[in-house]
Formats: sequence, C-alpha cells, structure tokens
Amino acid sequence: MNQPNSNKPAVRVVKATRTALPNAKSVAQIKSAPTTLAHQLQQVANFLIALRAGHSWATAQFDIENTQRAGVQAITFAVLRHLGQAHALRVALAPKRPVPAADALLTAALALLCAQDPENPPPGAAYRDDVIVSQAVEAIKLQRQLAPQSSFINACLRRFLRERGALMQSLRGNLEAQFNHPIWWVRQVQRDWPDHWQALLHANRYSAPLTLRVNEQKSSFAGMKSALNATEFIVNTEMQAVAHTGLELSRSLPVSQLPGYAEGWFSVQDAAAQLAAPLLMQAVSSQKSAKPLRILDACAAPGGKTSHLLEWAAARNIPLEVIALDVDGQRCERIEDNLKRLGLKARIIVADAADPSAWHDGQPFDGILLDAPCTASGIVRRHPDIPWLRRDTDISGLASQQKRLLQALWPLVKEGGALLYCTCSVFKAEGSAQIEAFVANNTDAQSLPAPGHLLPLKSADLSPMPENSLGGHDGFFYALLRKRS
Ligand SMILES: C[S@@+](CC[C@H](N)C(=O)[O-])C[C@H]1O[C@@H](n2cnc3c(N)ncnc32)[C@H](O)[C@@H]1O
Repeated sequence: MNQPNSNKPAVRVVKATRTALPNAKSVAQIKSAPTTLAHQLQQVANFLIALRAGHSWATAQFDIENTQRAGVQAITFAVLRHLGQAHALRVALAPKRPVPAADALLTAALALLCAQDPENPPPGAAYRDDVIVSQAVEAIKLQRQLAPQSSFINACLRRFLRERGALMQSLRGNLEAQFNHPIWWVRQVQRDWPDHWQALLHANRYSAPLTLRVNEQKSSFAGMKSALNATEFIVNTEMQAVAHTGLELSRSLPVSQLPGYAEGWFSVQDAAAQLAAPLLMQAVSSQKSAKPLRILDACAAPGGKTSHLLEWAAARNIPLEVIALDVDGQRCERIEDNLKRLGLKARIIVADAADPSAWHDGQPFDGILLDAPCTASGIVRRHPDIPWLRRDTDISGLASQQKRLLQALWPLVKEGGALLYCTCSVFKAEGSAQIEAFVANNTDAQSLPAPGHLLPLKSADLSPMPENSLGGHDGFFYALLRKRS
C-alpha cells in the first residue's frame, strides 16, 4: 500500500478498531450457550441496547459466536424491520418504561410477533406466537437479576396476543409504526418522493437478492451460470441476468463456497452498483491517447468498483492505471485482498480525498469515480439497522462532506475528462440536489446522460420512471460530468 508524497504533510493512517459493546460482557457470557430461541432473543435484545448506543450490526455481530451468528442475524433483521411497530406497542402495553434489558427483550419479542406474516414469513425467523412468548419469558430468566421481570414480560405479551386487533388499530395514523422507520426518515422520503414514498418504505421490509458480477477475464456469464447450476445450491430458474455481466440469485448462498470464488471468477456486487465502471469507462475511453488512461477511485474501499474498472478495461484491452484512495486504512486492506483474489493491480493510497495537497502528484486524471460517503439510505434491505442508527442531521452533514469532496476533486479532472458521482442513497440532498448545485456553480461542468436516482423498487411500482427498469437493485444515484475544454 503506498503512502503519499513524502514531502507533503504526513497522512494519518486510520486504524479503525471495533469498539466494545456496552453489554459485551453479557454477550460473552452466553457465547457457548445452546441455540434455543430464548438464547437468541437475549442476544437480539442485547443488540437493541447496543443499537441505541450507536453500534451497527456489522460491528456487533462479531460478539456472537460464529455458529450462532446466522440464526441470531435472521431474528435481528426480522426485529429491525418491525421496530417502529414494536416501539409503539411497548409504549401502549407498558407506558412506564421498564429497565433497559426488559424493555429491549419485550420490544424484540413484540417485533418478532409482528414479523410473523403467514404469507411472507421472515426468512430464518418464522415461529409460532406461543413459542415466541414462552421463549421471551425464558430469555428474561436467563439473567438472574432480571428474573423478577418475567411475569411482567409474560403479562404484556399475552395481552398483546389477546388484544392484537385493537392494539394494532390504535397505531393507525402513527407513521413510524406503520412504516417501521423513524418519523423524520418517513417525512424525508415523503418530501423527496411524493409519488413513491409508501412503496419505497415498504420495500425495505424485504431482504435484497444476492447479485454476482462475473469477472469477464476469468469466466463468462454462461460459464458461471452453468457452474452454479451444477452445484447443489441453486438451479437455473433461480438466476437471472442483470446489468452488464451480473447474475442475480433469488436467495442468499454461502458465497465463499460457490464455484470459482477463490479463483476470482466473480465478485458480490449489487446490480445498481455494477453500472459505475461501464458508465465512467465509456465516457473516458473514447479519448485517443498513447498513454494508459489514468483513473482515480476517490473513495475506493473495499474495492468493489475499483476491481470492476480494472476488469472492464482488461476485457476490452484498454490500458488503464487506477489509483484507489480511501481515508480508512483498515478498509484499504480489504481493497488489497479483493484485488489479490481477482488477480488485479491498482495503486492504493490511504488519504483524505478532499485534501489533494497531501497525496496528488499534480498529474490530472482522465476520469474520477467519486462513490461518496452517504447515509446509505438506498441499502436498508441489506442493512435494516441503518434507519435506526442515523439522525436527521446526518443528511446535511454528509451532503456537506460530499460537496467538499466534489469541489476538491473537480480541479483534478483533465479538460475533456469525466467525473462520475454516485451515492447509495435515495435522499435527493445526496443526489440530484447536490449535483444541480454543483453544475450551477461550475460552468465548466457539463452533465452527460446518466441514470440519476435509481429506486430500490420493482419496475411495476415505477411506471413513470422507466430508468428504474433494472429490477431488484439497491437505491443508487449516478451523475456523470464532462469537464469542458
Ligand atoms: C460508499 S463507500 C465506497 C465503496 C467502494 N467504492 C466500493 O465500491 O467498494 C465510501 C467510502 O468512502 C470513504 N471515505 C469517506 N470519506 C473519505 C474521504 N474524505 N476521503 C477518502 N475516502 C473517504 C469511506 O472510508 C468508505 O470506504
């Protein structure tokens, strides 16, 4: 991994460490526990406490034993997708807030009860109501100091089962409970997407497909499909083509056990994210030059789009040099690992992209990919904790960071070159509004055709927006800007 110019101020190599959970001890104590629903519910409740303290599932999951993680994750995701409803029900059933551990367990059990839709059972977390109630009571008894709360939990949950219809009716008009997102998030989606807000919020109740990007250098779409079909995992009818070389699988599979994983035949990448490399490469590769094209991937980690840029160019014999930059040193190690598995090479720099004086050698770039940090509001199906981790002020804070990155990087684009800006957000402040303001303030920036906002909805929900015809993809925004000569 390269460090930037030695005559420039030192760039801090960020050592991102995992913060211990507030309740790490209690999680550790039950690490070797048997896998009953009671034990799983206790771990889910512990996570809800950690979530309130700002810890994501991506971090917290490593405090759960490997063998138990998938089961706890399935229940956690079902719970997160019904958290707004469960919060409101807890308030209705117990207006005086119980102690945090009992509150979290009661909320987790209520959310799991709400998730039991017979027509669409939560994957890996389908249980009978009476089992959920009795196991929640067992879960509270697992912590000796909370055992006196067991009759309270039992009474609340049994009352919920008896009075479910009336209780649900009492939540009508409560948008947070109805849509299972914090109210500020609901209002923001209403403002940004007045015609699609309900469909957008509802879509986040489902899990996203697993999408592979076939590495054209090492395999082919047809080859990958038949290799998968030959396994016990999946059959042809459960796979469909998406984007340029994407293969969408209708269910989640153990990726590292799929054929060709170690050999780099494919990467896991959402269909919308697979549009980045072709969009930028098509915009810059028409330029005639004796030298290889120089591309900066400004926010590159973990390297999903860096590797796609390299694969795309190699498959078309386009000489290409990629500089992959990211401010997070630990995430940069993942770029290295990914490129190694795929047999690709880029120069990796750990630095702040918004401060080019610390790392830029003065040579302009033919193209820049700015996959900017954002609220990630477009990938809630994959990370259902996101709405509960964000605050409404995050949108303006991140929009300011995106603006700072755009302003710092635009001067580094060669005349005639292009910058592709993208975010995995559905909020307009991080997409169309950001780019409209940028183009208005930079007369040398010309907008080229690009998808704009891609919403994570099925095309049937989106008849007025034909550009969303990709299907089961994440929420994304793309703008492509040419620098005028
Ligand atoms: C959306 S992720 C990038 C995903 C990546 N492009 C991919 O396809 O795998 C955003 C990245 O921006 C990085 N980042 C945030 N602020 C940055 C900055 N000022 N300079 C460089 N990287 C930054 C984060 O560390 C994070 O890895």
